[in-house]
Order: sequence, then structure tokens, then C-alpha cells
Amino acid sequence: MKTIFSGIQPSGTITLGNYIGAMKQFVELQHDYNCHFCIVDQHAITTPQDRLALRKNIRSLAALYVAVGIDPAKSTLFIQSEVPAHTEAGWMLQCVAYIGELERMTQFKDKSAGKEAVSAGLLTYPPLMAADILLYNTDLVPVGEDQKQHLELTRDLAERFNKKYNDIFTIPEVRIPKVGARVMSLQDPTKKMSKSDPNQKAFITLLDDAKTIEKKIKSAVTDSEGIVRYDKENKPGISNLLSIYSILANKSIEDIEAMYEGKGYGDFKADTAKVVAEALAPIQERYYELVDSSELDDILDQGADKANATANKMLRKMRNAMGIGRKR
Ligand code: TYM
Repeated sequence: MKTIFSGIQPSGTITLGNYIGAMKQFVELQHDYNCHFCIVDQHAITTPQDRLALRKNIRSLAALYVAVGIDPAKSTLFIQSEVPAHTEAGWMLQCVAYIGELERMTQFKDKSAGKEAVSAGLLTYPPLMAADILLYNTDLVPVGEDQKQHLELTRDLAERFNKKYNDIFTIPEVRIPKVGARVMSLQDPTKKMSKSDPNQKAFITLLDDAKTIEKKIKSAVTDSEGIVRYDKENKPGISNLLSIYSILANKSIEDIEAMYEGKGYGDFKADTAKVVAEALAPIQERYYELVDSSELDDILDQGADKANATANKMLRKMRNAMGIGRKR
């Protein structure tokens, strides 16, 4: 069985973008792959985090993984910092990576732009991500489009390591969904929807209630043409809502366009809000059952045990390949 690895940062409340671009694919893939899903808390601290909020977000993300449909009996669900092999492998891969290639990463450029003090961790973020993936002999990494460049670097680092030391890493492939790989901000549909957007109206979180969802979608920026039609270039706002509707209602974009022919944006937005709220309601119900339960701790304990066992095997191979420590 082929292996999958993917991670999400617990750096805020999980958005509809994370769900559509990443989590929804995870749920579908877990039946056919040996899956590892990670709460990457060590990536989250590359930017400043409030200690108490971070703790809460870690637990919340764990509960959401299960609530959206990740089955802990099938998939390994764990917290990155509970598997120390990640940081050690990350260090070794930092020693394989070049500063220049890290400085060229668009996420680094975006997150450091205009900032006076930028953590070294923000620069060395991608080798840690490569470690996450490579420790598990990963074949496939399902992510949204924004992670594509990090995946290319992961492949480069794996190939460089294999050539320089020993051929131990599987070279992973990226998997980006055909629709929904880049859910856009509701307030500026030329930007991706992001959980760190200072404008709360720009994103929908998986825990927003029906009223909030309705308000946010009603105030979503669109255009003045008044025709519900997919045209990413000229109608990014409406196209974004159409993609969201299409994925969550499981209807084709053409069918939805036909349903709203001759109708205005008011009806279309009201129905989009309903589709989103209906998709999130069962997730939220399961989430609230789980988030404070000991069941969640059991899931994370078992996940950490399984992940540690797998990761430590590869870590030993990495140490031996590089010649650090004594031979084991
Ligand atoms: P993060 O936490 O920013 O996002 C988690 C996942 O959600 C996807 N995503 C989106 N997809 C569509 N539209 C959007 N607006 C949108 N926003 C986010 C992301 O592409 C991602 O798949 N570096 C990663 C975390 C990570 C990781 C890994 C991923 C660490 N190690 C190993 C894969 C494998 C990140 O910051 O994702």
C-alpha cells in the first residue's frame, strides 16, 4: 500500500480553504493509502504565537481532523512535537539545503516582507517540512496549490541526500485537487483565503455558525455584472463562490450556472451560504463531542506511538547515511 503524509499548522482556526484544499482530499484518500496526518505545531512557532491560544488550536485541529472524517483506526493522526525525529531529521536536511534556495521560497518572502525581525525558523521551515514527509517513505503528499513550491524543494533535498549519502529516501509526488486547490479570500478574491488574514470577513472557519456564514458570504466581494458565471480572470469573486458551492454540494459548475440563470447574486449567495452551513453542521456536531474528550487524547497517544516507531527507523538510516553518532 502506498503512503501519504500531510500536515496542517495549528496557527489559527481552520478555514474552508484548508478543508476544501486539503482535509476533504485526506478523507477520500485514507481508504486506499497508508495515511499520516500531522498537526505541525513546530511549524506554527516560526511566527509568533500566543502560548494558550496555540495549545487550544492544537487540540482543536486534532478534533477537526477526526470530525471531518479521518478515521484513527485507518490513519495515523499525531502532533509533530510529540515525534522528536522530525526536528532531528529537519536539522540534517537543513545541512543539505542551501540558504539561497530557502530565501527563494515565496512563503518565506511573503511572510518576511516588511518585517524587521524574522525568525531563523521561518527560513528553515521547508527542510522541517521535508523531514515530515521523508521520514515516512511518503509516496504522495495531498496539499493545496500554495504548498507546491515546498514540495518541489522536498524532492530536490531528497534527491540531493540520496546522491550525496545513501539512497534511502522515496521521492514524493505532490497531489493537488482539480477544483478547490486555491480557495480565495471573500474580501479580496485575488488573494488566497488564509487563517491569518486580519480581516475576519475574508475567511470562513469550520466552526462558524450558520448566521456568521450567511453574513460573510453576503458581504463577499463580487462584481457588478449580475450574471452567475464562472470566469476566474474577470469574475474572481463569483468564480470562487461557484467553486465552493460546486465542491460542497457535489454539483458541476455548469449545473449551478444553469440553476441561477436569470437570477441575481442575492439568491446565489443565500444558497451558497446554506450549502456551506449544511456541509459544516455535522462536522461541528462531532467536533464539540470530541474536543474536550479523553477519546481525543487516546487517539493522539496512539498516533504518536505509531508515528515514533516509523519515524525512528528512518532517522537511524539518516544518521548512518551521514555518519553521525555511532553505527546502529
Ligand atoms: P497550512 O497550515 O497553511 O495549510 C494546510 C493545508 O491547507 C491548504 N490550504 C488551502 N487550500 C486551498 N485554498 C486555500 N485558500 C488554502 N489555504 C491553505 C494548504 O495548501 C495545505 O495543504 N507548510 C504547510 C504545513 C505542512 C505540511 C507538511 C504539508 C508542514 N509539513 C508536510 C504537507 C506535508 C502549511 O503551512 O499548510
